[in-house]
Amino acid sequence: RILILDFGSQVTQLIARRVRESGVYCEIIPFNAEPQRIRDFGAKGIILSGSPASTTAEGSPRAPDLVFELGLPILGICYGQQTMTRQLGGEVEGSDHQEFGRAFLDIRETCALFEGLWQPGERHQVWMSHGDRVVRLPQGFRVVGTSEGAPCAAVADDARGCYGVQFHPEVMHTPDGAKLIANFAHRICGCAGDWTMAAFREQAIAAIRAQVGPEGRVICGLSGGVDSSVAAVLIHEAIGERLTCIFVDHGLLRAGEAAQVVEVFRDHYNIPLVARDASELFLGKLAGVTDPEQKRKIIGNTFIEVFEEEAAKAGGADFLAQGTLYPDVIESVSFTGGPSVTIKSHHNVGGLPERMRMALVEPLRELFKDEVRDLGRELGMPETLVGRHPFPGPGLAIRIPGEVTREDCEILRKADAIYLEEIRKAGLYDAIWQAFAVLLPVRTVGVMGDARSYDKVCALRAVTSTDGMTADSYPFDHAFLSAVATRIINEVRGINRVVYDVTSKPPGTIEWE
Ligand code: XMP
Repeated sequence: RILILDFGSQVTQLIARRVRESGVYCEIIPFNAEPQRIRDFGAKGIILSGSPASTTAEGSPRAPDLVFELGLPILGICYGQQTMTRQLGGEVEGSDHQEFGRAFLDIRETCALFEGLWQPGERHQVWMSHGDRVVRLPQGFRVVGTSEGAPCAAVADDARGCYGVQFHPEVMHTPDGAKLIANFAHRICGCAGDWTMAAFREQAIAAIRAQVGPEGRVICGLSGGVDSSVAAVLIHEAIGERLTCIFVDHGLLRAGEAAQVVEVFRDHYNIPLVARDASELFLGKLAGVTDPEQKRKIIGNTFIEVFEEEAAKAGGADFLAQGTLYPDVIESVSFTGGPSVTIKSHHNVGGLPERMRMALVEPLRELFKDEVRDLGRELGMPETLVGRHPFPGPGLAIRIPGEVTREDCEILRKADAIYLEEIRKAGLYDAIWQAFAVLLPVRTVGVMGDARSYDKVCALRAVTSTDGMTADSYPFDHAFLSAVATRIINEVRGINRVVYDVTSKPPGTIEWE
């Protein structure tokens, strides 16, 4: 396993992705973590991430000295290279020649990082983002690659097993970067590269059994989404009937979703499942409420209420299962300072665990989203479930700006189903991060047949993204959008106009509320 020390770069998670793709388990911890945590992790190598900070500024973050005392291979990336250089006795300076974006690396010497990949004399595209640069190397280091703005763009001290690169091998714009990171993990650190989903499944099942014990009972809330579904199937494989799943249908799901949950879990997997239709309760409480945060609060609180009630009826449990993912638990390092504003409160973060005061079982807390999907496939789960787009906890309630009524939910469900069906038919579903319809509280005039219509507007949204943090509107061709619009207007009563949302995030958000 490999340890990544995070200095606050935007792309630290990508380093972890690349290491794991090479079949090596890794974790990210903040640069200022207790040295004991670094020692206890038992890494075979350490990667120092980039950072928005500058090593030339006073009080800039440093790696704990222990990192250089363990005798482990180290790879410093960008800021990581610079702090390693300084901490080992070299020099870094602010440079007039800043390099941002695409740059070219001239390979000067052979190096274990480049083995089987790059030869001296060659030139390769890399991605740079730096103002400072290394100008004097610590003893024992040699330059193995240079770029126009960085005389020490790649450096090595083979005896000590320390390597540094000024560019970012973790991003896609460094085309050979993943192989470079794999070289570090396999050739330099000596990791076997046998961390696969099949291996993870075995380990995770053993860990669940050890945590829950021979008698322990677990309760798991299913949402119909990927994470809770995969967690439930995995836990069921570990402890069988001692798992009870609770599915609270708040009446705000997409077409056919509630039925699919029951079918997959009760009928296919034979998992004890309590399915409660609580749509009356939720929609009743939402009546007359128009503020998005208020809607989220009501849905979150009502969910906890119903869940607790059903859990008690089911005889309680010792553990609560959650589909928490790795991005939710990485302790992020931030140098922006000041409190960040709440754009939206995402209700699935927190709430239930505090109230229920139960020990948590979180078998996915080490995985990224697409690793969870791979695990679902490994567990033989249907592709329509594991490949599903993310869906917000408050569901359609935040896709109907303003007041939510049962009637509008019905209208939206129909339009959304047509849109998704056409996307699937066109083979575009997997190229899109999230696609959905929104029902606007706006009526416009139309003409249908010979009659005047005065109905609602439906907005279509589709975005590409890798993590939901930033997103681009999906560039459908016009013919596709017109065909979808025609179908929606012809088949869904209550909608007479369809528009497409071309806003990116930022400045927009993915959902409309
Ligand atoms: P935004 O709209 O903030 O969405 O750009 C980013 C991602 O988060 C999802 N989302 C939510 N998920 N509860 C959730 O569980 C919420 O209240 C919520 N609001 C947004 C959204 O679907 C997208 O994937």
